[in-house]
Amino acid sequence: MTTYPTEPLPRLAALDGLLAAPAGRVPERLRGLAADLGITGTAADPDAAHDPDAAEPAVPALIAALRTTTGPRGAAVALLLGLLAEAPGERVRAAVHRGFTDYLEVLAERGRDSRAELLALTFLVAHFPQERDAVLAATAGLPLPAGDRARLRRCLDPLDPQDPELTRIWPDPTHWRALPPAEREFDRAWMVQAPAGMMRTAYELDTRSLLAYSGAKALWAAEHGGEEPTGTDPDLRLPAATAGTGPAYAAHLAAMRCPSCEGGLVLDSGAVACTACGTVFPADGGTVDLSLGVGDPHEPMTKNVPLCYSEIRSAFLRWKGTNWGGAVSVQDEDEYLRGAVRPVDGPILDLAAGTGRWTAVLAETHGADRVIALDLSAAMLRQVHAGLPDVATVRGSALNLPFRDASLGAVNIWNALQSLPDQAAAIAEVGRCLRPGGTFTLMTFRPSTDPLYRVFQTAPFGVIPVALSAPEDLRAWLTAAGMTLVSQWTPGSFVFITAVRDQIG
Ligand SMILES: C[S@@+](CC[C@H](N)C(=O)[O-])C[C@H]1O[C@@H](n2cnc3c(N)ncnc32)[C@H](O)[C@@H]1O
Repeated sequence: MTTYPTEPLPRLAALDGLLAAPAGRVPERLRGLAADLGITGTAADPDAAHDPDAAEPAVPALIAALRTTTGPRGAAVALLLGLLAEAPGERVRAAVHRGFTDYLEVLAERGRDSRAELLALTFLVAHFPQERDAVLAATAGLPLPAGDRARLRRCLDPLDPQDPELTRIWPDPTHWRALPPAEREFDRAWMVQAPAGMMRTAYELDTRSLLAYSGAKALWAAEHGGEEPTGTDPDLRLPAATAGTGPAYAAHLAAMRCPSCEGGLVLDSGAVACTACGTVFPADGGTVDLSLGVGDPHEPMTKNVPLCYSEIRSAFLRWKGTNWGGAVSVQDEDEYLRGAVRPVDGPILDLAAGTGRWTAVLAETHGADRVIALDLSAAMLRQVHAGLPDVATVRGSALNLPFRDASLGAVNIWNALQSLPDQAAAIAEVGRCLRPGGTFTLMTFRPSTDPLYRVFQTAPFGVIPVALSAPEDLRAWLTAAGMTLVSQWTPGSFVFITAVRDQIG
């Protein structure tokens, strides 16, 4: 056990307030204390004078409080220590590390009885890779769910340049390790070729994602009586279908245009050609490739993503959408789309369709022959084509949609805007391609209104960019793109939006 100085510990009034808080006031006092410690989910003002080690004197008091405080307050203190373990100030981090032996003792005392404390303390000790063996030994007999244990272990494991598992760790490494050996070897082959600096950066970003997910989950559990999501993630794979009669994109060529020169497109001996510039676009496996090679460098990285997509997506929604309590189910998503998509004449575009789970909802509701699935990833489109052979599949970029002005009857972007390189530009493209009266449906994420949750929510998602959009920005982008918002639903930190394309001119 740590020996503390004999002089009075520097105490924070807000810490005393948290420790004495009646149960109903713990969340508010926790946030007050977090703010006093400089832990906020708001970008720091770069001009403000800021001492990165300002919280250092409070750390021994937090460690002492952890030893004596149990239940949600104990979990809250462990969470704060975990956040200070990743603070910018080196002295703060060192002060948190000095309590390491205490953390293991508290884990041993309470880890079996209190799920909230177990998760919060696991989040805390995941910050000490230098203590890897001690943490693994101390947690070995504790009732940690398999995914949490695997996440903890990955946070502590050093980078192995021979098997770096880059990006193959979300939401925990177990799913990726269960892939067939040939797919594991495929991934290892591209990962080991990454330059050392890039490997290190990706590894560190992956670690930050896992820590943020663990912290967000622990915060939820601490504030919901130890509750956490139970049950298995829904299976989002499409069943394989029998092949269609021909390339479904052929029926939609009149709505398409050349991504290079904006000329018209025609079928040309098994491929698609531009009638103006003569470019021939490959058409393979039922998909026409109008991407101009934009996504090719990422193709090896995305090839195996569909194999773990159900788990990746559900965990991502819990984290970015604050969906730990399951407020938004797959059925809710389906229902929203069924009710909101109101196409006028012209194809319905599922933009950034991924593996096609929601393309299938559009096809069921409006007919497969009306739907086009577009994505930048060939791997994703192979899944869509295998499950929905009568839906047109187009490889292309959301920032340069290969469709004529006012050619589409409706557009949907589901759980994808946040990862597009330029949200305003993507929405402008939607406005350009939509016919007046056609709907634009969108599901994405906004920054949580809870500044403490935002600290976890805004952490990176490995190497994949994620931008959370404020509803006011979304509304401004819609207006600039010639669309009018007709409804908005914001459960948790989701944003579901339906807009309609205005008349042109
Ligand atoms: C999180 S997935 C969403 C898939 C699906 N809509 C869903 O709800 O599950 C995001 C998709 O966006 C695609 N994507 C990323 N950047 C893109 C771009 N610039 N243009 C088109 N698609 C893109 C990715 O390949 C991926 O399939």
